[in-house]
Amino acid sequence: MNLLILNGPNLNLLGLREPAIYGRQSYADLVLMIQDAAARLGVSATVRQSNHEGTLVDEIQAAYGVFDGIVFNPAAYTHTSVALLDALKAVGIPTVEVHISDVSKREDFRQVSFVRQACIATIAGHGLGGYIEAMELLKEHLTA
Ligand code: DQA
Repeated sequence: MNLLILNGPNLNLLGLREPAIYGRQSYADLVLMIQDAAARLGVSATVRQSNHEGTLVDEIQAAYGVFDGIVFNPAAYTHTSVALLDALKAVGIPTVEVHISDVSKREDFRQVSFVRQACIATIAGHGLGGYIEAMELLKEHLTA
């Protein structure tokens, strides 16, 4: 089982970026956590990050026929991007939306998620552990 773990803008700055909200662990720490979890779950995980909306669209399109599931933290594009929603709908790959912070308890502009309607679940506010929960959920979903 091949999973794509896709991260949007500014997530490469984890650790540096607003640590009170996103924690002190770095993006490299996140990648290690994901690879550990992948080994434990017996799945393959490819981790990618881009600050560019079009590149994220390209990643989703290129995932067709290659990846069985996507763990997706679109970051700020969550709240703005119809293009990412359309890309997810186009490829139809089971996707779990992840947010490190609890977006439901933050600013009004974070209450909208365009991608959510193309996702099988949303995990928010569980810190970096949310990515691992999403991987577990996808494994269950894809083997059910
Ligand atoms: C985020 C929440 C978004 O609102 C924000 O723009 C991010 C990160 C999260 O993981 O909590 O960049 O997706």
